[in-house]
Amino acid sequence: MKYVKDHSLSFTRKLLPWTIYSILPLAIFRLYFYPLHFPSSSTDFLPLSSSTTITTTNSFSSFSPPLSPPSSSSSSSSSSPEEEIANESPPCDYTNGKWVRDKLGPIYNGTTCGTIKDGQNCISHGRPDLGYLYWRWKPNQCHLPRFEPFTFLQLVRNKHLALVGDSLARNQLESLLCMLATVSPPHLVYAQEENKFRRWSFPSHNANISLYWSPFLVKGIEKSNNGPNHNHLYLDHVDERWAKDMDQMDMIVLSIGHWFLHPAVYYEGDSVLGCHFCSGLNHTEIGFYDVLRKALKTSLRTIIERQKGKEIDVIVTTFSPSHFEGEWDKAGACPKTKPYKESEKLLEGMDEEMRRIELEEVEEAKLTGKQNLGLNLEALDVTKLSLLRPDGHPGPYMYPFPFANGVPDRVQNDCVHWCLPGPVDTWNEIFLEMMKIWEMSRRKAGQ
Ligand SMILES: *[C@@H]1O[C@H](CO)[C@@H](O)[C@H](O)[C@H]1NC(C)=O
Ligand SMILES: *[C@@H]1O[C@H](CO)[C@@H](O)[C@H](O)[C@H]1NC(C)=O
Ligand SMILES: *[C@@H]1O[C@H](CO)[C@@H](O)[C@H](O)[C@H]1NC(C)=O
Repeated sequence: MKYVKDHSLSFTRKLLPWTIYSILPLAIFRLYFYPLHFPSSSTDFLPLSSSTTITTTNSFSSFSPPLSPPSSSSSSSSSSPEEEIANESPPCDYTNGKWVRDKLGPIYNGTTCGTIKDGQNCISHGRPDLGYLYWRWKPNQCHLPRFEPFTFLQLVRNKHLALVGDSLARNQLESLLCMLATVSPPHLVYAQEENKFRRWSFPSHNANISLYWSPFLVKGIEKSNNGPNHNHLYLDHVDERWAKDMDQMDMIVLSIGHWFLHPAVYYEGDSVLGCHFCSGLNHTEIGFYDVLRKALKTSLRTIIERQKGKEIDVIVTTFSPSHFEGEWDKAGACPKTKPYKESEKLLEGMDEEMRRIELEEVEEAKLTGKQNLGLNLEALDVTKLSLLRPDGHPGPYMYPFPFANGVPDRVQNDCVHWCLPGPVDTWNEIFLEMMKIWEMSRRKAGQ
């Protein structure tokens, strides 16, 4: 077992509180499968501009509204995008910053966007404090613009964007759909397996956005009430439920993490590599850090091998911290109503380790794929900014009006996912800035 490292067991011991959270609440599984109601919309969309693919356009003026430059400092606003690229100004570091008050609030309304999963629709579930809606992420060195739905749609014109992963991928997708819906209504064109696989089209821009349920990215058999007690993961096989469609994808957002905490048996080649939380089975406990690493490695390698010169943007959304402070089934499990200050909460423990592994694997994949023309690979580093948002989870408002009859003895709390609108909207703001930078470097290369 060459991959078993001495420290993996002690990591697991340190993580006991986390792993307990992962096995105790079977009901938490409902979070991942909660049904969603999708009201269809028939509103007309806004007029189209040119249908030219943007990658072959070499003038910024074809954008309406114009594509704003990725500002690397507030003083750079006077230089044109072309100058910025010519100057090779370093891209903004969105990782480090702070949450500042923002009077403007979200660009969409949680009671009117029809694509929010019930359990994350905190406003319509009666969450009384709405202060958590009025914060904006301020990176230390630059300005993060508000989400511009039109610009996003221009950048995905004639493209297929796929979000692949677990329920946090879905959280990110639903934030994106709500923000885009403020300018162009999405049409649900495909839904299967209790909404685990869905596709929306934006006819205004001939764009598709889809969701692929794949909580490990690699082939896996998920534990279930009438199936195995452990997840079974095949670390050297990509999950073909998403990978088989790769040739039709132009942008892929991968988002995984929390499912690796669950009990599992891991396979590599023809043999069992080890397991996690598997007392009663005669396998070696190896924790989940190396397993997450292998799963990402297999997935990114598969993308690199199958890309074959096609233009494709790949983003790995980093680990999204949860904020359980009390017992998950008691009132007050994640009771904060304000963000942490930067100095108040350090990135450490499992959050730090999961993020580090993801960043390292993205860097390694960049090296492996550096000969691949047309391939962009980047991490969307949301771990720290999300860590500072203990106020952004549904908590008890995963269910409607949980305290309508007083405070019950038992109340389930979701301190993993995020209210919509909420902090995930910021993830997509950064995602858009990354897309702008890629688009500009493509244009530069095409000039
Ligand atoms: C959302 O829209 C509804 C209906 O227009 C309105 O009553 C409500 O105040 C809005 N909520 C927020 C948080 O803006
Ligand atoms: C969007 O999906 C439809 C099928 O639902 C397909 O016919 C079309 O080619 C796709 N468009 C893009 C740009 O991927
Ligand atoms: C557990 O595995 C070891 C080593 O493979 C083997 O010697 C032992 O017999 C196994 N025990 C059980 C109960 O299967």
